[in-house]
Amino acid sequence: MSIAPHGGPLVDRILTGSALEAAKTKAAGLPRIKVDAYAAFDIDCIGKGIFSPLTGFMNEAETRSVLNTMHLRPGIPWTIPILLSVSTKEGAKLELDSEIAIEDDTGDIAAILHLKEKFSVDHREIAEKVYRTTDESHPGVAYTLSLGDVFLAGDLDVLKAREIEFQEFALTPKETRAKFEHHGWKRIVAFQTRNPIHRAHEYLTKCALEICDGLLIHPLMGTTKSDDIPGSVRMECYQAIIEHYYPKNHTMLSLMPVNMRYAGPKEAIMHAIIRKNYGCTHFIVGRDHAGVGNFYGTYDAHQIFSEFDPAEIGITPLFFDHSFFCKTCGNMASIKTCPHDKEHHVFLSGTKVREMLKAGEIPPVEFSRPEVAKGLIKWAQGAD
Ligand code: ADX
Repeated sequence: MSIAPHGGPLVDRILTGSALEAAKTKAAGLPRIKVDAYAAFDIDCIGKGIFSPLTGFMNEAETRSVLNTMHLRPGIPWTIPILLSVSTKEGAKLELDSEIAIEDDTGDIAAILHLKEKFSVDHREIAEKVYRTTDESHPGVAYTLSLGDVFLAGDLDVLKAREIEFQEFALTPKETRAKFEHHGWKRIVAFQTRNPIHRAHEYLTKCALEICDGLLIHPLMGTTKSDDIPGSVRMECYQAIIEHYYPKNHTMLSLMPVNMRYAGPKEAIMHAIIRKNYGCTHFIVGRDHAGVGNFYGTYDAHQIFSEFDPAEIGITPLFFDHSFFCKTCGNMASIKTCPHDKEHHVFLSGTKVREMLKAGEIPPVEFSRPEVAKGLIKWAQGAD
């Protein structure tokens, strides 16, 4: 028996066949709002069941419950509100209990919203509760403060399953579950990442695979901040490292069309729940998971799990301490498994690594596999 999706059956709001054709015809005559790529990715996540049990954008009661109790409803953890915003002027034109066509960033009608509620929640309150800061240098805060003042709630019928680059690798939760079944994997660990896989990442994933049947390398490919490494560059790196260093019969690469929120601990819970929807039983949480700058403590994303009943989270978190290569141990280790001081460890700052890549230098093998570094050098030298 595979792991149950979060809070009920796996949601599927994507219309097909004659229902899709009828919805397309209807949508042409409906009032229309236009959304950005961020909202379009959220719509896709709702449609494909990545955000199960959500069937649409949250209403006020759900939003306040998520902000104040980290639960969508009693027994159903949820840590980050999923909201659709419009300006006050635009919101005033939309009638409750009507249907609204949502045009995405590419000009297509992505969905029809069954508008049930219009409401407002102070953006700074959202920022403070989700990101634990209102500092506008935090990318999640900046995005939240830029939202329109009116939130629209209601179920969605999704007309367009969004496609991303390397779409053939972006399996839906349903497809991922079927693959696991096909492989006969029962214990499956998911690895969230928004970076190329360096030696520390490789260490965590392989330690986790030692106690599981399968590893899902599951990079996030929704919107990210502009200085994160682009998805296409990362994809080349993932394929290279899997080709050379991972066992094919226990490893799967799939892309996840979810926006990065940089919400640290709260996003770690969301990332875990999403991977439960994809059928994974275990989830890797390392140091400063989903963090940005110095906004979160190194292990905040571990500690937050203790605020929930493990049964309501469902998926098992695997916590990893900060890991590195120790020259004296002669292997990858963590502060838990290595007795040596810092000077024995290979440490390179992100800035140093970028400088090396730009100069065409391959960072030490203790930091990155050369096959990965090669893809990054190409990007670093072309990206100015
Ligand atoms: S994240 O935003 O997706 O968390 P990143 O891709 O860097 O960023 O990290 C992916 C996962 O690896 C996260 O669980 C993170 O905590 C973990 N991680 C990254 N680097 C290390 C490290 N040196 N030691 C332990 N865990 C790490």
